[in-house]
Amino acid sequence: MNLRSWLFIPGDSDKKLGKADGAGADALILDLEDSVAPANKAAARQKVRAFLNQRPAERRTSQLWVRINPLDNDALIDLAAVAGGAPDGIMLPKIDGPTDVLRLSHHLEALEARDGVPAGHIRILPVATETPVAPLRLAEFASSKLPRLIGLTWGAEDLSAAIGASTNLDEKGEWALTYRFARSSMLLAAKAAGVQAIDTLYVNFRDADGLRQSCRAAAKEGFTGRIAIHPDQVTTINEAFAPSDEDVAFAKRVVAAFEAQSGAGTVGLDGKMLDIPHLKQAQQVLALHEQYQRKKG
Ligand code: COA
Ligand code: MG
Repeated sequence: MNLRSWLFIPGDSDKKLGKADGAGADALILDLEDSVAPANKAAARQKVRAFLNQRPAERRTSQLWVRINPLDNDALIDLAAVAGGAPDGIMLPKIDGPTDVLRLSHHLEALEARDGVPAGHIRILPVATETPVAPLRLAEFASSKLPRLIGLTWGAEDLSAAIGASTNLDEKGEWALTYRFARSSMLLAAKAAGVQAIDTLYVNFRDADGLRQSCRAAAKEGFTGRIAIHPDQVTTINEAFAPSDEDVAFAKRVVAAFEAQSGAGTVGLDGKMLDIPHLKQAQQVLALHEQYQRKKG
């Protein structure tokens, strides 16, 4: 299961929660952190819990995730409020490293037992670059055993605030070096840990062409999904991170070429040598394609 689009919904907004089901996102992130003003946090916890309760697993068209507050700031209150609604996962902001993910795992073990949620059900997606030390510790994910971890994502806004930078962009409007370093390190860490690499949000939500280009570039680099902040971004993200028609056609030809010579470890196609990794890659493309077609249907 690969999740391409992750749409943020401020947890205190009835109107936006009301639009969430129709957005077509692979995952919704019901937010209790930075999009909710402190005075509304308690109400947001209740709204998010009610949203989860009204959508038991068999009725979910998108996975339902909750972004909680950081571990040193009301995370336990958030978790205690939402765990019984059996969210598919928790997005954990502002981690310093994998040990924070482990801490959250232990909290979830206890809450799943308390609330009758199957052990290990609730997965984790940390925002892995929001504190100064976090990007430096990304390599530790490669050797951390974290069964609940399904991906890594990154954020540039909180990191620039944390290091006292006045901007996170260079003169050309691209990510400045510190943020490119964080993003590349996150990509490598995700691959080394064998989990999804989720790119950060595209701020200008009216610029669909810019988003499409940016997503295609990210997909080519190895990212497998992206955060969305507006429903209009979801389709673009879903398309950009799904195999293209050409990818699918080529994958079918690769599989057919191996089937035609059963038992062969290497075959020729279009004058090029293909071996088992090519076959596996093609099978993966077809499996993803099938998963996304089922979602459309
Ligand atoms: N989820 C669900 N519905 C959303 C939505 C979202 N993330 N963003 C916008 N909508 C709804 C709006 O309420 C509006 O509904 P309406 O047609 O019934 O009035 C409709 O989609 C069109 O919205 P639009 O007017 O284009 O945008 P906006 O100015 O209302 O909102 C944002 C812009 C950025 C404030 C809004 O998209 C948002 O809140 N995004 C999420 C922010 C967030 O969670 N950030 C935390 C992570 S960084
Ligand atoms: Mg933030």
